[in-house]
Amino acid sequence: MLAVHNLEVVYEDVMLAVRGASLSVGPDRIVALLGANGAGKTTLLRAMTGLLDVHRGKITRGHVSIDGARVDTRSPAGVVRAGVGQVMEGRRVFVEFTVEENLRVGGHTSAARGLQDKLDRIYSMFPVLADRRRSQAGYLSGGEQQMLAIGRAMMADPRYLLLDEPSLGLAPQMVERIRDLIVEINSGGTGILLIEQNAAMALSVAHHGYVMENGLTVMDAPADRLRADADIQEFYLGLGSEGSSLRDVKHYKRRKRWLS
Ligand SMILES: Nc1ncnc2c1ncn2[C@@H]1O[C@H](COP(=O)(O)OP(=O)(O)O)[C@@H](O)[C@H]1O
Ligand SMILES: [Mg+2]
Repeated sequence: MLAVHNLEVVYEDVMLAVRGASLSVGPDRIVALLGANGAGKTTLLRAMTGLLDVHRGKITRGHVSIDGARVDTRSPAGVVRAGVGQVMEGRRVFVEFTVEENLRVGGHTSAARGLQDKLDRIYSMFPVLADRRRSQAGYLSGGEQQMLAIGRAMMADPRYLLLDEPSLGLAPQMVERIRDLIVEINSGGTGILLIEQNAAMALSVAHHGYVMENGLTVMDAPADRLRADADIQEFYLGLGSEGSSLRDVKHYKRRKRWLS
C-alpha cells in the first residue's frame, strides 16, 4: 500500500500548498485524485516522488509510506528503487533523444539482458512506439509523447505508477487510448494514482477517488459513489443545471457536511 498521511507542504517557507492531505493506493487499484487547478495535486505527487526539494518545497507535517516504510525521506532515484514510477505533468520526454533512447533512460537500473526484454514488452504494449523507435521524441504527436512518457516510467517495473494529468491537451480519441493503457497497466499488477482534471475519464476507470480542494483531501469514496454524487456531477463532470449563485450556496453547505 502506498499511502500519504496527513501531509502538509510549504513552498519557500511561506506558501502553504497542501494543508493536510491523506490518501492510499492499494497494489491492485486505480485511484483517481481529482481537483481544480491549484488544489495541490501536483504538490502531493512531488512529495511522493522526492521532487519537492527542486521546487523549494518542504514537508512540514505528515509523511508518505509504502507498506509502512517511509519513502518521503528518499531521493527521487530512491523512490524509483522503492517501486514508484511517475509521469510528470506535461509529458517530459527528452525531445532530442530517440524514442528508444528515452525508454533506455527509464530502464537504466536494469541489467543489459533484462533491458532488451523490457523494451520488447513496452513495444508490444505500445506498437506506435515500436514503429517510431528510431525517431526523435520531439517529432512525436502530443499523445505519442504521453505514451512514451508512460512507457519510460514502466521500464523501471514500478509497483505503483503516478500519472499527473495524462489526458491534458489530448484529443478525445487519444484520451481513450491513454485510458485503455491505464487499465492494461493496472491489470498487469501495477497500482495507479491518476491525477486528473478530466473527472469523467478518471472516474470511468478508477476503483476509488479523492477530491482535493485548497490543499485538503475533502472527499474520499469509491468511484461509483463519486460518479453519482450531485456535487461531483455539477463541479467536475459539468452536468449541473442550476444557476451559479444557488449552486455556490448548496456547494458550501455540502462542503461543510464533507468536512465535518
Ligand atoms: N514551486 C512553487 N513555488 C511556490 N508555490 C507553488 C509552487 N508550485 C506550486 N505552487 C502553488 O501551490 C499551489 C498548489 O499547486 P499545484 O500543486 O501545482 O496544484 P494542482 O496540481 O492541483 O494544479 C498553487 O497555489 C500553486 O501556485
Ligand atoms: Mg498540477
